[in-house]
Amino acid sequence: MNSVSNPFITRRKFLLAAASIAAAVPIRPARAMATGEYRIRVAPGQARFAGPDGPRTPVWAYDGTVPGPTLRLRQGQPARIIVENGLDEDSTVHWHGIRLPNAMDGVPGLTQKPIRPGENFIYEFTPPDAGTFWYHPHANSLVQLGRGLAGALVVEEVEPVAVDRDILWLLQDWRLAADGQIAGGFGSAMDASMSGRVGNVVTVNGTGPGDRSVKAGERVRLRLANASLARMMALRFEGHRPVVVAIDGQPCDPHEPEGGRLVLAPAMRIDIVLDMQGHPGSRHAVIDDFYDGLAYTLTTLAYDAAPPLRTHPLDTPVGLPRNPLPRPDLAGAERQEIVLQGGMMGGGKLKGVGGMMGMGMMDMNGGAAWAINGMSMTGDGHAGMAPQFTLKRGVTCHLTMRNETAWWHPMHVHGFSLSVISRNGSPVPHRQWQDTVLLAPKDTIECAFVADNPGDWMLHCHVADHQMAGLMTAFRVT
Ligand code: C2O
Ligand code: CU
Ligand code: CU
Repeated sequence: MNSVSNPFITRRKFLLAAASIAAAVPIRPARAMATGEYRIRVAPGQARFAGPDGPRTPVWAYDGTVPGPTLRLRQGQPARIIVENGLDEDSTVHWHGIRLPNAMDGVPGLTQKPIRPGENFIYEFTPPDAGTFWYHPHANSLVQLGRGLAGALVVEEVEPVAVDRDILWLLQDWRLAADGQIAGGFGSAMDASMSGRVGNVVTVNGTGPGDRSVKAGERVRLRLANASLARMMALRFEGHRPVVVAIDGQPCDPHEPEGGRLVLAPAMRIDIVLDMQGHPGSRHAVIDDFYDGLAYTLTTLAYDAAPPLRTHPLDTPVGLPRNPLPRPDLAGAERQEIVLQGGMMGGGKLKGVGGMMGMGMMDMNGGAAWAINGMSMTGDGHAGMAPQFTLKRGVTCHLTMRNETAWWHPMHVHGFSLSVISRNGSPVPHRQWQDTVLLAPKDTIECAFVADNPGDWMLHCHVADHQMAGLMTAFRVT
């Protein structure tokens, strides 16, 4: 694991201050109008990360809450979401991981006009896949996401899944100054060319690190989503054996994660099934130990005193029904390669950087720090991005992603889910499909997808600073 040297890692203080918060915070039900219809307003708001009596932090929020309301849609049922922009700057909403029509993808310039202050945009799509997704802006992303704009999007299975409870933890990382305000300095050259803006306070559904109450014997489906700008996480559930049932919303073969650690890079989701086998009254820490020497307790599972719900753990299988993903035809596939270059310290010289260099970063202090195949596209997406490659509709693309840098990159593709074939030459087990694939330094990943969805689509690192500073590209399906 890499380590982070970050002047802002002073979370202890905050954690102690917040340690008095108890009780799991329920996810606020969203403002639904009719089934699949929502109206969300984007505007400045206030959060209290340390609970109702804690200090207020000015944030930008969807519908006044951080995170935004959890939107619940049904698989195969049309959705209509009206977004009102109450900010003083342009915004859009990107429905991360949903395979939807290109015009609804929320990339300013590339798929839609930005939503101007005071204006609305109506997003309409029918989600083909059930699972755990999320939404966030794709305009001034580093700042808008960093100020709190993120929410969960759950697409429910046609047949409900048999668990006692379905819970969601939306994880956010904040860089707070000593006075509890969100620190400025977004887009510094150091963040941009190193690990990104890793913060000093992590919240679960908007509050940090209070207990989550659970019942002995219950079976929980826990949906984890990392909505951080840059913080990688590796979660361990002490005394428990989580079974991974879906990654990035897509069901996989149920399996226990390697070493019991759930690695969640920014933008990734993992659904687990947890059989609560602890004793009534017991407490079990959930620990994030991704960064060497910086492990901390994210939250604590607190069993209530009631006798177990059932005497034997359930032996019914935990697998989820698969989604209707088109199956890649590897024999007839077209090969493409994406090489990640740049950053500090490591073989990744930025040579032959051309094209869009500097666009969108002109008023930040970094400029391009990264490149894909020698080209730095910076910012959030814009009109006239030359596609890196073009695929004929229906063809299978066999995509190799090669990380030449010394840094971690969660590479995200819009509009598709990737069947992950191999990592550094070893086959990837459990039939995994992902929209965000984490590459460790020097990793090579092979994956495949069927180019069944026409349009111009983004492919970028989801560490927001990296994306803004050039680790982004686009491809076209015609
Ligand atoms: Cu969740 Cu282009 O991003
Ligand atoms: Cu996306
Ligand atoms: Cu990156």
